[in-house]
Amino acid sequence: MAKIQQTFVCQSCGAVYNRWRGRCEACNGWNTIVEETPGGTGPQSGPAATRPGRARGRVFPLEGLTGEAKQAPRIPSGIAELDRVTGGGFVRGSVILLGGDPGIGKSTLLMQASAAMAGTGERVAYISGEEAVGQVRLRAERLGLSAQPVELAAETNVEDIVETLSQGRPPALAIIDSIQTMWTETVESAPGTVTQVRSSAQSLIRFAKTSGTAVILVGHVTKDGQIAGPRVVEHMVDAVASFEGDQGHHFRILRAVKNRFGPTDEIGVFEMTDGGLAEVPNPSALFLAGRDHAAPGTAVFAGMEGTRPLLVEIQALVAPSALGMPRRAVVGWDPNRLSMVLAVLEAHGGIRLGTHDVYLNVAGGLRISEPAADLAVAAALVSSLSGAVLPSENVYFGEIGLSGAIRPVAQATARLKEAQKLGFGRALTPQGRGEAGTQALPTEALRHIADLVSGIAAN
Ligand code: TYD
Ligand code: MG
Repeated sequence: MAKIQQTFVCQSCGAVYNRWRGRCEACNGWNTIVEETPGGTGPQSGPAATRPGRARGRVFPLEGLTGEAKQAPRIPSGIAELDRVTGGGFVRGSVILLGGDPGIGKSTLLMQASAAMAGTGERVAYISGEEAVGQVRLRAERLGLSAQPVELAAETNVEDIVETLSQGRPPALAIIDSIQTMWTETVESAPGTVTQVRSSAQSLIRFAKTSGTAVILVGHVTKDGQIAGPRVVEHMVDAVASFEGDQGHHFRILRAVKNRFGPTDEIGVFEMTDGGLAEVPNPSALFLAGRDHAAPGTAVFAGMEGTRPLLVEIQALVAPSALGMPRRAVVGWDPNRLSMVLAVLEAHGGIRLGTHDVYLNVAGGLRISEPAADLAVAAALVSSLSGAVLPSENVYFGEIGLSGAIRPVAQATARLKEAQKLGFGRALTPQGRGEAGTQALPTEALRHIADLVSGIAAN
């Protein structure tokens, strides 16, 4: 009799071993390897492969594929900030993985999207594996959405879910909340294991592709920011979005991490209110609210998130250190980037911070990844050290090179327009390609970090 071969699967990255070990060699995680019974993970064991009369390996001409897709390529969700991230609405038959910390508002966002779409006459199903139907209904009631014809189910078995969804006209949108709670009969492992998550996702993806239903899988995120288990799912789905935010702040950011059908650098901004998530069409105003105009150490950065300009306040605090090894603490920006700006300020700007503690904060809890913030960070640092308050009408953007040169950054015009819209009067920028006079705002072009330092000293 053939012996069933046990496999050992890393629950963090999905690497497979033939014996147990304490540490995964692929992702270096400790105690992540769990014994699982294989089987059923391949597509050959799924229902689609056994369907009779299906042509194998058929080819189609490229141009002929548009027929169906042309009519309704996308279904708008009815929430503009969500549609911005998906690239204009859900693509029929596509699968999106939505990750985020517990309690950040994933279920709330998806309930609101479901209700908005159901209100337009589309069939929408919301499958919860975590909450009972009554709980989901209560939430909808609190959000004032209980009158919308969303189909609710509390179900965790994938075969049952696919069966239910296949009855009648296929839904335009199906929400699976969450993928970690789903299980399929084709594998024996416990729900939440990588094998189950992968197989369940595979079945649901197959359902999406055959029925044309847009499916959203909710995925939980671990402490270190990875989508737990479903990391293996990330490669299988069409789009991955993450819902982020600071528990201490009210705003939430929906960010596209991967998108086969749209841009990946767009963000949607929401604010968590008593009545659910409210869209924030003008996030700059939100992030600049409560700004202290008279304090040294603050500079406004004219940033971009995707195609959208976003103005935020950068705060720096520089103080003499009592420690042999001064502290460097950063919230919302890359600590390596801060070290670089500090080194360049010292080498080329004559600013010595080697014996100072340095704290840097992006106000509002936002996380910035653009090197274009270098100039604003440098300005905030110099201002804090010298005690000179930067003019409150100034905005800053520009990348700083290791030579101290201020380098041009993309989309200068959009940044300047946004700054002008919000009432700023002057921009400190790299030497631009834009012609003087055509700019939305008076600009002062800086060539070198020393120009910035001498400008602040002259204030
Ligand atoms: P939820 O959508 O359940 O989070 P997730 O599905 O990501 O785990 O959101 C839960 C949080 O949202 C909870 O802390 C309460 C808050 N919330 C509001 O502030 N207002 C609301 O109207 C709702 C429904 C939730
Ligand atoms: Mg939830």
